[in-house]
Amino acid sequence: MQIETINTTPYADQKPGTSGLRKKVHVFQQPHYLENFIQAIFDSLDDYAGKTLMLGGDGRYFNRPAIQIILKIAAANGFGEVLVGQGGILSTPAASCVIRKNKAFGGLILSASHNPGGPDEDFGIKYNIGNGGPAPEHITDAMYRHSREIAQYRILDAADIDIDEQGSCRLGEMAVTVIDPVDDYADLMSRLFDFDLLRERIGSGALSLCFDAMHAVTGPYARRILQEQLGAAPGSVINAEPKEDFGGGHPDPNLVHAHELAELMFSTQAPVFGAASDGDGDRNMVLGRQFFVTPSDSLAVMAANAHRIPGYKDGLIGVARSMPTSRAVDRVADSFGVDCYETPTGWKFFGNLLDAKRINLCGEESFGTGSDHVREKDGLWAVLFWLNLLAVRRQSVADIVREHWKQFGRDYYSRHDYEAIDAGLANDIFDQLRSSLPRMPGKTFGESTVESADDFRYQDPVDGSVSERQGIRIGFENGSRIVFRLSGTGTAGATLRIYLERYEPDAEKHDQNTQEALEDLIELAETLCGVKKRTGMTEPTVIT
Ligand code: G1P
Ligand code: ZN
Repeated sequence: MQIETINTTPYADQKPGTSGLRKKVHVFQQPHYLENFIQAIFDSLDDYAGKTLMLGGDGRYFNRPAIQIILKIAAANGFGEVLVGQGGILSTPAASCVIRKNKAFGGLILSASHNPGGPDEDFGIKYNIGNGGPAPEHITDAMYRHSREIAQYRILDAADIDIDEQGSCRLGEMAVTVIDPVDDYADLMSRLFDFDLLRERIGSGALSLCFDAMHAVTGPYARRILQEQLGAAPGSVINAEPKEDFGGGHPDPNLVHAHELAELMFSTQAPVFGAASDGDGDRNMVLGRQFFVTPSDSLAVMAANAHRIPGYKDGLIGVARSMPTSRAVDRVADSFGVDCYETPTGWKFFGNLLDAKRINLCGEESFGTGSDHVREKDGLWAVLFWLNLLAVRRQSVADIVREHWKQFGRDYYSRHDYEAIDAGLANDIFDQLRSSLPRMPGKTFGESTVESADDFRYQDPVDGSVSERQGIRIGFENGSRIVFRLSGTGTAGATLRIYLERYEPDAEKHDQNTQEALEDLIELAETLCGVKKRTGMTEPTVIT
């Protein structure tokens, strides 16, 4: 086995987005494309010689060949050991858990999250640092810089290794240890939640459930924890077999894509609790019988009830939400007298706040919730949190949420996505929105008068770093808000996201249909950005 140095030329498009580098599989399959990016990642890191790297992914198409290549590049670059999930599998939160537990130097997560998988679909690579969280911007910027300058990469000339058997072997000077992908994670969950109580309520059938793994990575995790450890009836976890193409589906846990679960939960056969997770296991959708919990409300309810859950019995330290997430959790933080931070979209911005112990709960409107237990959002963790809460309160999901609204008021909330629109056109929309900002405050549209209008800028309170242009916020005097953002994870054209929010304190008015409750704001958003007029689209591609 010998280390080879291969000459290469840079690709111009290896700039990591909201969550690592995501491209179509055929882009990654271009000669040296993957190798260049991995070498660029390693070139951005210091002092890793002899240290441990974690490696795993969501099992999508191209996961296995990518793992073999990365192992050989890691060996040639001097890592001491790589921990690989068996079969190349590790959910994103489990990867974060493994990095932390083993004090690894960092890790590579192979996933394009909720994007479809397969030869013509998406693949992705994300680097996480030693705290288990996504690399901060100064590191992702360095990766991009190195990818633009790369002239050579190093790779070990060796045969592929068997990643399906647990145990250790050597690849040149480096050790490769294949680990069970579920063990460490399941152990962590059993220390955060009341497994005895859950076993009693779930095992007796009082707390019936359905978990849709969407043919993605959480299948083995959910089967082990929900069915084997907590006694949920066999078949409670559906679509549990991870597949390279996610069964041809779109592994995004929302009412549109998790339709099998949605149909069940809105039928007369619905169990007490329903949930789904995404391709790499970090997102969650929570449902009760005939009841959908918006992710923003879920975060607020979890914050209000954290003290009832063993792992959080000392209560909230502080909370954080991404800027476009509704302000429901702000009101909870206020009532407990703790800080609530508003961060740009993307999990990486929560890491510093968690490390500095300024917060212990955080979330995003995009079906992401998490806590200080790892440094990624965590789908199955959120599911266990809700189950533990249902077991303690012995109420239905709907009753818990309705009581919450009664106490804090309801934030009607929806996100409208316009996908794959022309990138030039999207930029024009933003240029125009930005230039209109200074004239906005004081303007009245129908019943709404603009109170504030800006392009969100975040200064990290821990390290002082600044992130500009994180989305356009327009706040109204009546408490409503419209936010415009361009997606940083899409792989085709541009995706415009419009976030709409209206606060309703009056409990008599908490039973409206969300889209109807937001009708005026939806119209106003179109007046402001003209996306329908300019693209000819009559409706958003996805409404969540
Ligand atoms: C989307 C979500 C964002 C999430 C990210 C990764 O990013 O909006 O909240 O952190 O996926 O799961 P976007 O495509 O909007 O940049
Ligand atoms: Zn994901």
